[in-house]
Amino acid sequence: MDKPETALLALRMRDWVAQAGAHIRHHIHDPLQIQTKSSRTDLVTNLDKQTERNLIAAIRSEYPDAQIMGEEGSGDHVTDLRGLVFFVDPIDGTMNFVKQKYNFAIMIGAYVDGTPQVGVILNVMRQELYWGGPQLGVYKNETPITHGSELTLADGLFGINSAMLAYDRYHSHQLFKTCAGMRIIGSAGIEYIQLLEGRQIAYMSHLAPWDVAAGRVMAETLGMSVTRLDGHPLDMLSSGDVLIATAPTADAIRAIALG
Ligand code: IPD
Ligand code: CA
Ligand code: CA
Ligand code: CA
Repeated sequence: MDKPETALLALRMRDWVAQAGAHIRHHIHDPLQIQTKSSRTDLVTNLDKQTERNLIAAIRSEYPDAQIMGEEGSGDHVTDLRGLVFFVDPIDGTMNFVKQKYNFAIMIGAYVDGTPQVGVILNVMRQELYWGGPQLGVYKNETPITHGSELTLADGLFGINSAMLAYDRYHSHQLFKTCAGMRIIGSAGIEYIQLLEGRQIAYMSHLAPWDVAAGRVMAETLGMSVTRLDGHPLDMLSSGDVLIATAPTADAIRAIALG
């Protein structure tokens, strides 16, 4: 995809998530239909499903040949990364959405033949839209972001998924003692934003392709490392344990996590 095509794609993606965000904010106080999925803490609401359907309809009307992987099942059954592939998370942080009406995001990542092109993450309630890619740079609304945190592991804040910390997976208790503090936000998208803004040096979690896709495009554009926790490259077709970290801290984190 050349630069003008990529710029147009970014513009369209920003528009889709902005419209979806406005729809959610408009309905934020409506009664929700809440269902559980794999466990009592794995929730989906009518607004997750509606938002995904709306986003996928918008994508299909403008990019009919693309493949679309969506969390709530209204997309395609994607088994390869050929061509233009969109990864859609209609509400990232559904538990926060239900309990807080805050700290949740809408995310879309676009890849061509597996190569990151454009990522967009909307912090819905703050109306802050993060977007960009390797050909475009990274922006918060219209303001460029040029780099993440330059702090060391000892001086930086570390985002983590609550289960990983609770069960001391990847020596996370040791990581806790080594860094300046851990933070648990409950939305991969909002965690990515902390890294893009330089407020945290890392985020460690078990993530699906739609959790990781949008933020990966922007984090890598800013020189950060986004890999499986064991250091292997991400597989955008399956879930796994993921480390997103600034370049200066990634090796130090893995040395403890895998030690
Ligand atoms: C979840 C959130 C959460 C992360 C989970 C994700 P969802 O996404 O990003 O922070 O720990 O792994 O599944 O289900 O609310 O879109
Ligand atoms: Ca979910
Ligand atoms: Ca998610
Ligand atoms: Ca979701």
